[in-house]
Amino acid sequence: MSVECVRVALGARAYDIHIGEGLLERAGAFLAPLLHRPRVVIVTDENVAAAQGARLKSGLEKAAIDHEFVVLTPGEETKSFNQLEALTGRLLDLGVERRDLIVAFGGGMIGDLAGFAAAILRRGCRFAQLPTTLLAQVDSAVGGKTAINTAQGKNLIGAFHQPALVLADIEALETLPERELRAGYAEVVKYGLIADADFFAWLETNGAALIAGDADARRHGVKTSCAAKAAVVSADETEQNTRALLNFGHTFGHAFEAAYGYSDRLLHGEAVALGMSLALDYSVRRGLLPGDKAERAKAHLKAVGLPVSIADLKPGADISSGKLAELMMQDKKVESGRLTLILARNIGEAAIVKDAPVGDIEDFLKQKTAR
Ligand SMILES: NC(=O)c1ccc[n+]([C@@H]2O[C@H](COP(=O)([O-])OP(=O)(O)OC[C@H]3O[C@@H](n4cnc5c(N)ncnc54)[C@H](O)[C@@H]3O)[C@@H](O)[C@H]2O)c1
Ligand SMILES: [Zn+2]
Repeated sequence: MSVECVRVALGARAYDIHIGEGLLERAGAFLAPLLHRPRVVIVTDENVAAAQGARLKSGLEKAAIDHEFVVLTPGEETKSFNQLEALTGRLLDLGVERRDLIVAFGGGMIGDLAGFAAAILRRGCRFAQLPTTLLAQVDSAVGGKTAINTAQGKNLIGAFHQPALVLADIEALETLPERELRAGYAEVVKYGLIADADFFAWLETNGAALIAGDADARRHGVKTSCAAKAAVVSADETEQNTRALLNFGHTFGHAFEAAYGYSDRLLHGEAVALGMSLALDYSVRRGLLPGDKAERAKAHLKAVGLPVSIADLKPGADISSGKLAELMMQDKKVESGRLTLILARNIGEAAIVKDAPVGDIEDFLKQKTAR
């Protein structure tokens, strides 16, 4: 039961990510050095509390840390202003003080909401991320982006607020629904595609085992992903330039998520898999990437059961090229009719392309939706 550690090098805001098994049962020992008094409030959702709560509780009891669980309704709707107001009120009622530590225990929904609550409660409390989905372990728990959704869109209100510690217990993934796990795996593949050809090749061989539950494969996959994200985040914490590489597949992907109303008909990671496939094909169209490399990358996503073409999607949403282009134009990355896209130059090498004309993208999508 080895534990891996990745340090996020951010000067005064640096922190460790521990990755391994049995971390929840040892959470008290990891958290204790960060506490001014032996007390934490844990923010989680009903599914996580039911599936994994007892493990964390035992870990805190072992270290004699007083604890209170705040258990929220699962689902993206909870990442809202209403719920933020209720949560911050509850944290104040529970007597959370400025120097206390808040624990975000769950997937990205909980991490984003509890992280944002921590960022604004008493002008900023520290928090720890205990991610329980693959997506959260490799992506959302690392890097300090926190946010809620509004009627205008997803993640438009938020703050950069780095956690003080991340504990990624890969055993928690054992109770995660398989579809959620597979969707999170798309973000793992993303790191291989944007930055690490050797890791991508490793995933081609070991990805199926990682998904099936092999602990060594999970530990290595999560660790390598966290190290890749940590490197990008420490070079550009607030996304002035290179952090945008992490958006590979996301500008195309978000258009599909929006078209499906951010419902469970299309999970974020599934949209990212399709979005990366389209970004690969568009890179070929722009002459940046040889066609066989795009085919190789898509073949792996397809082999693990992720969508790689528009035909793989469920019917019932308006995914005409016009609608998709319109949705892409609403992206945060549009400037005077030109879109910033992350494209591929090779497997393991991505590039920020700032001048993608929207008309050309719509033309490309027209071809793709016609098939
Ligand atoms: N901050 C960032 O950098 C960042 C990056 C990517 C995504 N996000 C955000 O993350 C959110 C998506 O996160 P997610 O995919 O983890 O979804 P999620 O948090 O909604 O979790 C998915 C489902 O799995 C359940 N669950 C979680 N862990 C479980 C476990 N161990 N066992 C059983 N059930 C479990 C949850 O209750 C939920 O029903 C979105 O809001 C997205 O905007 C943020
Ligand atoms: Zn993502």
